[in-house]
Amino acid sequence: MSIEIHKLHPTIGARVDGLDLRQPLSSETATALIEAWLEHKVLVLPTQAISDAEHVAFSRHFGRLEVHHQNIIRDNAVPEIFKVSNVDEDDNIRPTTDTTMAQLLTTKIWHTDSSFRENPAMGSILRGVEIVREGGQTCFTDMEAVLEALPDDVLGTIRDRRCRHDFEHLSRIAAGRKPTAEEKAAMPPVWQPMVRIHPVTGRRSLYISPIYNDAIEGLDESQSKAILDQLYALVSEERFVYEHQWSEGDIVMWDNRCTMHRILPYDPDERRVMHRTTVVGDGPVIAA
Ligand code: OGA
Ligand code: MN
Repeated sequence: MSIEIHKLHPTIGARVDGLDLRQPLSSETATALIEAWLEHKVLVLPTQAISDAEHVAFSRHFGRLEVHHQNIIRDNAVPEIFKVSNVDEDDNIRPTTDTTMAQLLTTKIWHTDSSFRENPAMGSILRGVEIVREGGQTCFTDMEAVLEALPDDVLGTIRDRRCRHDFEHLSRIAAGRKPTAEEKAAMPPVWQPMVRIHPVTGRRSLYISPIYNDAIEGLDESQSKAILDQLYALVSEERFVYEHQWSEGDIVMWDNRCTMHRILPYDPDERRVMHRTTVVGDGPVIAA
């Protein structure tokens, strides 16, 4: 299989042509994909008609896979599949008031996956199983470019600080279901450096994840909020963002160590079913 890579944005995102994931992946192709992934941060593999099992087998080329700690998210048949879906077990569309839906809708806010873990996810591999006709695009922002663009005073404030990432913060912003005592015990808040070094490329990036962040070390609540709000506005600027318009079967894989993502609004009465695998991180976040 010979693959071709086409850039989709000056610094983030590239499309990979010439792949058929129903065929086994050679080690040369896997290596080429890993290199392209490191360079472009987000890869789009258009319209792959694959099953959950094939999705998992493909994902294993990139590392060990996470199994989600909540049974509302984890697939029953294939536990490495994380369901980002507005359709419930009985195949009905979830009302937006449903607590699982409230949690999933937090994906409309910028975040990077599993940043609430001591060892956050290295990358995520998302497949469009049922896509909506309008809206529902997934946007990716380049946290290396954002770091470079930070005003000096903001950089000075955050450079040597850590930010708190708490899974429970999700339920506060989403007014969703509170974590159970068991989930809380399994997911205590973690403090992560705000400027990190990519363990493979050595490049520096800003590391925040708004759906989980509730405090910055050494700052009071209002100072933390002011800085975080300023950062949230900056990451949304168009120049840093690749926006993916889904076609059925697309696979989009992103590097969680140097990007954030969010989803754009869509009609909640339409089915939107996305399946994700998550590659386990390569160790604790390295402070710059
Ligand atoms: C995710 C996520 C966005 C989407 O799977 O981590 O944030 O487009 N999904 O469904
Ligand atoms: Mn996500």
